[in-house]
Amino acid sequence: LAKIEIKLGDIPEGKSVTFKWRGKPLFIRHRTPSEIQTERNVDVQSLRDPQHDADRVQDAEWLVIIGVCTHLGCVPIANAGDFGGYYCPCHGSHYDASGRIRRGPAPLNLEVPNYEFPGDGTLIVG
Ligand code: FES
Repeated sequence: LAKIEIKLGDIPEGKSVTFKWRGKPLFIRHRTPSEIQTERNVDVQSLRDPQHDADRVQDAEWLVIIGVCTHLGCVPIANAGDFGGYYCPCHGSHYDASGRIRRGPAPLNLEVPNYEFPGDGTLIVG
């Protein structure tokens, strides 16, 4: 299936839910105000793959990323690691709640797919 439609009302604040999309894990995270605040305040220059949080999300409440570690392709664990986002147990890569690589061997941030909010409480990825 090329596109996937997700009902946002089913994902409580603070939770990251995994879907399967085009054979890959897709993480949808309903971020808390404090997570949003933290990610907005990160010094972009300090990042290995410098990207502002605002350039990675269309709506600050919702993080939409591909759940494939950019090191060697393992699936990171949600709400784990030292930066409050995701942790890849294969070789210890820590990602923040914007999906940006913060520590460990992964070279790049978790990939953001194409997506849109049609405005009816759903998210369409693809
Ligand atoms: Fe994730 Fe190596 S595959 S750290």
